[in-house]
Amino acid sequence: MAIDTEDLLTRIHAAPDLPALEAERVSALGKQGLITALLKSLGKMTAEERQAEGPRIHQLREQVTDAIAGRKATLEAAELDRKLATETLDMTLPAAPGSQGGVHPVSQVMDELAEIFADLGFSVATGPEIEDDWHNFTALNIPEDHPARAMHDTFYFDQTDGEGRRMLLRTHTSPVQIRTMMSQKPPIRIIAPGRTYRSDSDATHTPMFHQVEGLVIDRGIHLGHLKWTLETFLKAYFERDDIVLRLRPSFFPFTEPSAEVDVGYTVQNGRRVLGGSDRWMELLGSGMVHPKVLEACGLDPDEWQGFAFGCGIDRLAMLKYGMDDLRAFFDGDLRWLRHYGFSALDVPTLSGGVGA
Ligand code: DAH
Repeated sequence: MAIDTEDLLTRIHAAPDLPALEAERVSALGKQGLITALLKSLGKMTAEERQAEGPRIHQLREQVTDAIAGRKATLEAAELDRKLATETLDMTLPAAPGSQGGVHPVSQVMDELAEIFADLGFSVATGPEIEDDWHNFTALNIPEDHPARAMHDTFYFDQTDGEGRRMLLRTHTSPVQIRTMMSQKPPIRIIAPGRTYRSDSDATHTPMFHQVEGLVIDRGIHLGHLKWTLETFLKAYFERDDIVLRLRPSFFPFTEPSAEVDVGYTVQNGRRVLGGSDRWMELLGSGMVHPKVLEACGLDPDEWQGFAFGCGIDRLAMLKYGMDDLRAFFDGDLRWLRHYGFSALDVPTLSGGVGA
């Protein structure tokens, strides 16, 4: 059986679309395909014939397989380009008349946090979501071989930061601590709310989520300041005076000592209600800024001290507004958004209530 290799390769290169290419693949490499038949014929040959024909047939199969893969990649890239060109959205178009927007609970909670902390003298800081390794890990006292790096399930880019290290999607808002300390002189009082990313997904984890970081740097700062600040913040946020906190010794590379903060709650009619000290749930991580972190930012730890904390914003929203599945936050389901969203005019203020 002879095959016109040239002709076959030409047809593959000229296949106009993916179905046509698939038809060529089946006719050459499928169960009844020409090359498959050639391969089968090897079994009926004499040893000498096989020695001569075997390499030729295998080479032919490889050639055809490569040509199909190459053409497939070209067709897929063209298809993607076509989609990108036709499925654009004009974000500058005005909203259709009659449609009504709302404020997503995450944005609402971020506004509430900014309002509460502004009252305590904090400003809002931001940093890039595409971070380099140094700000996200090294400067936070998480060196290259530190097990905490593995715990963060980091999304890495192929691109490097100029020193051969790969860029990444920030795994926490803590790098904003570093950027703030490098760009401002103490005293510093900031919160940094924003998006964070980890390769993790179930009912309580989404690959993109939100955190708020807090950082205070000044002279003579101690754990008492941290506890007071967190208590004041959480009482204002949950709009209850009976919020009780419990600081549990813990470990974070960038704080020493480190404390995990639990908040007391009770169960009423099957629902968790914050307040009291009946039961405890973990709410956030915190601690005194590690001297090595201060040094990495050019601050003298003998002169400056500080505290920091990091807290999941989505969880804060769920606890206050009673949602139980984190994934719904990012589904974009209009029914959910209408139910849990906030009016754009309902701006949280301390005097009018941050509870909306
Ligand atoms: N960055 C930590 C995380 O994502 C949270 C955290 C813990 C932040 C302690 C802090 C801190 O600032 O002091 O798991």
